[in-house]
Amino acid sequence: MDDLRQKYLGAIAGAADEAALEELRVQAVGKKGEISLKMRELGKMSPEERQIMGPRLNALKDEINSALSAQKAALGDAALNERLRAEWLDVTLPGRPRPRGTIHPVSQVTEEVTAIFADMGFAVAEGPQIESDWFNFDALNIPPEHPARQEHDTFFMSRAEGDDRPPHVLRTHTSPVQIRAMQDQGAPIRVIAPGRVYRCDYDQTHTPMFHQVEGLAIDRDISMANLKWVLEEFCRAFFEVDNVELRFRASHFPFTEPSAEVDIRCSWDGGALKLGEGDDWMEILGSGMVHPKVLKAGGIDPDQWQGFAFGMGIDRLAMLKYGIPDLRAFFDSDLRWLRHYGFSALDMPTLHGGLSR
Ligand code: DAH
Repeated sequence: MDDLRQKYLGAIAGAADEAALEELRVQAVGKKGEISLKMRELGKMSPEERQIMGPRLNALKDEINSALSAQKAALGDAALNERLRAEWLDVTLPGRPRPRGTIHPVSQVTEEVTAIFADMGFAVAEGPQIESDWFNFDALNIPPEHPARQEHDTFFMSRAEGDDRPPHVLRTHTSPVQIRAMQDQGAPIRVIAPGRVYRCDYDQTHTPMFHQVEGLAIDRDISMANLKWVLEEFCRAFFEVDNVELRFRASHFPFTEPSAEVDIRCSWDGGALKLGEGDDWMEILGSGMVHPKVLKAGGIDPDQWQGFAFGMGIDRLAMLKYGIPDLRAFFDSDLRWLRHYGFSALDMPTLHGGLSR
């Protein structure tokens, strides 16, 4: 009896899985198990012997049965613990959803431009898209009879009948944000103002709504040299080429004096546009030293302060950088176009992580 007891209790305690346990159960207390066979022998015993052996065999059978269920429970616990350990997950981690949307090239380029200028200390300023005639034109040294007004293909809001004030306009450029930012923040100031602008025009490179980014830097001794450096630095970062070459070409804007348009060296070999090489030049922006009248309209004393401004087309930058031939497709809401030119929904352009991929 003691041998049986030791043999089975030891084996049960060492059983590694449920299959081994079941095998031991059959061997010991199954129909033809060792203990069961012993119990069958009780019939052949004398009544005295039976009285001693019967209870002892029953007790051993009980003991083995409870050892079996204890070990079974222990194995179950161990299996559960192992599973909990293996399937452990950190619910505080952010999810990994598969984004279905893609970032529009205009949004992407706006983020890229903002990241580059933020790195140079420019904050982002904003202004309304429905703008007063004064902010959009007069404050920028474009008085009512100025020919530049005609060039802007302006959308006018309507006034109530009998209201003779000049109508508000859909802003034709982001330049009015210069005035608002100067009035709000005073000098010194360093801002960019990306946003929507509107002109009544429509062809392969013009849409009635498009995007510009304005730049403005005012301080005591800011010069044209600073403007050049900032724009060159911007182009190198934005176009992700080291050998960008810019050409500053004398021009005229009412709100800057002197004024310059900036062209970038490029080639059109084989119909593909390459920047930084070739014999062609492509205009990418307008710029200049802020006109004293504009500083005054912004509430800044032109005898104390001076600075530069520039303005460029965000859509145009996107077309150049990502080789998109037709501006109108930007605003067609065609998902196939977006999937072709769009950007990953979760990639944020940064200077250290890479602007675009
Ligand atoms: N506002 C001009 C336009 O829409 C662009 C521009 C040119 C902005 C020169 C400027 C600048 O700030 O200095 O055509």
